[in-house]
Amino acid sequence: MVVTRDQIVQWLSTTAAVMQENKAYLTELDSPIGDADHGINMDRGFRKVLEKLPEVADKDIGNILKTTGMTLISSVGGASGPLYGTFFMRGGMAVDSKEELTGDDLATMLQAAVDGLIQRGRAQAGDKTMVDAWLPALKVLREALDKDGEDTLTALGEAVAAAEQGMKDTIPLQAKKGRASYLGERSIGHQDPGATSSYLMLKALNDTLAS
Ligand SMILES: Nc1ncnc2c1ncn2[C@@H]1O[C@H](COP(=O)(O)OP(=O)(O)OP(=O)(O)O)[C@@H](O)[C@H]1O
Ligand SMILES: [Mg+2]
Repeated sequence: MVVTRDQIVQWLSTTAAVMQENKAYLTELDSPIGDADHGINMDRGFRKVLEKLPEVADKDIGNILKTTGMTLISSVGGASGPLYGTFFMRGGMAVDSKEELTGDDLATMLQAAVDGLIQRGRAQAGDKTMVDAWLPALKVLREALDKDGEDTLTALGEAVAAAEQGMKDTIPLQAKKGRASYLGERSIGHQDPGATSSYLMLKALNDTLAS
């Protein structure tokens, strides 16, 4: 299975719709352990991405993803704008000038995106951040793609389940990065908003490729 440029554009516009639908939920998650703006941030950023998409929809996938990253950086303040911005810019650089992606290309793109996110935010596994959704998802994706005869969509479905589990597993963690870390032990018992938006983003990719 190959992922086309149109599917990447569709993924980004589905993500915009999903962030809009989940604006209140993400903001609610960000109220006990943050400043109650994560849903607002994600909705604002992806609304801008949606506005930009027609300008880049006929460009290569690297260009589309890099434009997405730059748009998020320039439209979202706080922690998540630069972090997701770096995610998409680095992901785009890894598939520079490609018009379509194989399953391996997709995994390479997501790996580069997450590497960028980690370099930028310096979060490690277990710090109760978006990284805690991505790392288990990437591990499962890589393992599934390496299995003989496993198709990309099945592999991606397994990665989404791992991201969802990673998101839920942030609940008992104490935050070590970002605003939530100021709460110390009081950050325990709450699901991380960024891990939740990351799960939603990966699920949107899977849903787009499955439709
Ligand atoms: N250093 C980091 N590395 C990875 N993810 C991080 C880091 N710091 C924060 N996050 C993620 O960002 C999410 C919060 O995003 P949000 O949009 O609410 O920004 P914010 O923290 O409110 O920014 P600010 O406080 O500067 O306005 C957290 O739930 C966490 O997943
Ligand atoms: Mg916040």
